[in-house]
Amino acid sequence: MSLQNEWYIACESRGLQRKPVAVRMFATDFVLWRNSQGAAQCAVDRCAHRNAPLSQGFVKEDCLVCPYHGWQYDGHGQCQRIPSLAEGRSIPASACIPTRQVREMNGYVWICPGEPPASEPRAFPHCDEPGWTTFRMKTRFASNVEACLENFLDCPHTATVHRGWFRNPDPREMDAVVRKGTDFVEVDFQNEPTTDSVIARLFYPKNCHLQHTDRFLMPNLSRVDYRFDDRHHFIITSQATPVEELITDVYTVISFCYGRIGWLVRLIFEPMSRHIIQQDVDILKLQGTNLKRFGGPEYTHVETDLIALHVQSMRRRAERGEPPPSNETSEKRIRIRF
Ligand code: FES
Ligand SMILES: [Fe+2]
Repeated sequence: MSLQNEWYIACESRGLQRKPVAVRMFATDFVLWRNSQGAAQCAVDRCAHRNAPLSQGFVKEDCLVCPYHGWQYDGHGQCQRIPSLAEGRSIPASACIPTRQVREMNGYVWICPGEPPASEPRAFPHCDEPGWTTFRMKTRFASNVEACLENFLDCPHTATVHRGWFRNPDPREMDAVVRKGTDFVEVDFQNEPTTDSVIARLFYPKNCHLQHTDRFLMPNLSRVDYRFDDRHHFIITSQATPVEELITDVYTVISFCYGRIGWLVRLIFEPMSRHIIQQDVDILKLQGTNLKRFGGPEYTHVETDLIALHVQSMRRRAERGEPPPSNETSEKRIRIRF
């Protein structure tokens, strides 16, 4: 498994209509378009003729038309028409562009920038399901994928970066049980105390026990669950798409159930979530700028960086194309406070 041989969100489905769309991923430019049946297609954004960007062209019937001399490419990347060629002249076999596999699910278009994996993209849990309220956010971070994922799964920063909003510093300790599998790491917080914050005051139901779980799912997903009971459950899932070294597009899906007043909760929760994620954008921008100034990370880990160390080692191994060790499961209990 190389990190490129995986599914990544390229754009929202509703953002891909009649006009071709340019998408950058792993520092490569791709073009997305829809054929006459509405199926999403993807190719490298470079015309085989004189290398013009195909994303600046248009769609005609099933073909993507280059804006320069009008060569027309089908969904397999094969050129079907060259307007300047006289009747009966054949199209050279080299008149083609590399294409990529595409999937559409949960309101997103996913592409595989490398070789497609055996598995399909992972669905967002409870996305748009009856009884659940879902909203989506797209956020650009001036940082790398690992720094983003670490941030989404890192609790201690919430008491500083999101102080007052999400958590406040609290001396009470709890146990965090860290479980590791071949392609995931999850943390269960045991008897997490409720710290005073705007979020807790507005949304935590009274007299309910909080079950809080954070998960990293290879190679680029984070999932955070706040479950109080069957009728009160928040799930925040984020998928990180690497645009280039220090630019990451994060697609966050927040699905929650909250009895009958989900729609009302959303009215307050959505703008608040955007405000909180902007605080993460700001701190990661500072971190990214410093990484540039000092030329790469030199981290000091402590045991309360519960998930981060695993994120890095699992992704490094995938980057080198090594499979995960088949017996790699572990469980560890760590004392922590926020
Ligand atoms: S550059 Fe695309 S048709 Fe000439
Ligand atoms: Fe945060």
